Amino acid sequence: MMTCLLMLAGAASSGAEPVGGNALVLGGTGRLGAPIVQLLVERGYAVTVFARPTSDRGRLVGLDVSYALGDLLDADSVVEALRGRQFAVVIDATSRGSSDASFYATAMRNVLAALPAGSVDHFILHGSAGAGDNIAKFPQVPFGRMQDILRAKGRAEALLVTSGIDYTIIRNGVIRPDGTAASATARLTDDDSVLGTVSRLDLAVLTMQCLDNPDCRNKVFHAVDDGA
Ligand SMILES: NC(=O)c1ccc[n+]([C@@H]2O[C@H](COP(=O)([O-])OP(=O)(O)OC[C@H]3O[C@@H](n4cnc5c(N)ncnc54)[C@H](OP(=O)(O)O)[C@@H]3O)[C@@H](O)[C@H]2O)c1
Repeated sequence: MMTCLLMLAGAASSGAEPVGGNALVLGGTGRLGAPIVQLLVERGYAVTVFARPTSDRGRLVGLDVSYALGDLLDADSVVEALRGRQFAVVIDATSRGSSDASFYATAMRNVLAALPAGSVDHFILHGSAGAGDNIAKFPQVPFGRMQDILRAKGRAEALLVTSGIDYTIIRNGVIRPDGTAASATARLTDDDSVLGTVSRLDLAVLTMQCLDNPDCRNKVFHAVDDGA
């Protein structure tokens, strides 16, 4: 995986000092979060992974990262873990796991409360096509029980958008199976009627393309891989 990501994202750092600034990755131990962490380290960011004490760190073995420990559903633990911290970028790659749909809004509320205005330059949220009002763009899709999740993801998006922090929301439609190689044909579109298929590795690469990129600020994108 490492070679593939390096080729696509480029810009590995050879310096001893972090050149990208401080980055916080929520869900950094997960299937989408871990490749994002890897690429950030390669770009020269000093990466902090927010994780639960019980989180499996296996995907991050060998990467020079630090950990902030807490539970995103426990507001006090999030405040404690992030107190006084400043981040050039916060990237949210969480998924609810066994928690109910309200996870997304509760976690976002807790994180924003722990990161006051001025402590974060840019917040990148991985969300879902169909989140919030966007569901109206897909009347033909039988979302079924996903509707509760999409409503909660919409509430999380709204909290971020109104937070005053510069944001980028990257919505995915269908995620290709874990381990699917990056394709180099994935892209972001501001057409919010796109329900694309994309791999996690491509989502990680697309995330990197929004770092220090003014064209990504305060935008909502849908990720799609025309070659998939
Ligand atoms: N459209 C699709 O086909 C599709 C399919 C799957 C996922 N997705 C979306 O893709 C994104 C990434 O999903 P993924 O499957 O890559 O994620 P994942 O592998 O399930 O990883 C989820 C991450 O969130 C963390 N997390 C969960 N609850 C937490 C809590 N209470 N406190 C702190 N951390 C917590 C997990 O840590 P622990 O190890 O402690 O649990 C883990 O690091 C999500 O937005 C998800 O909804 C879309």
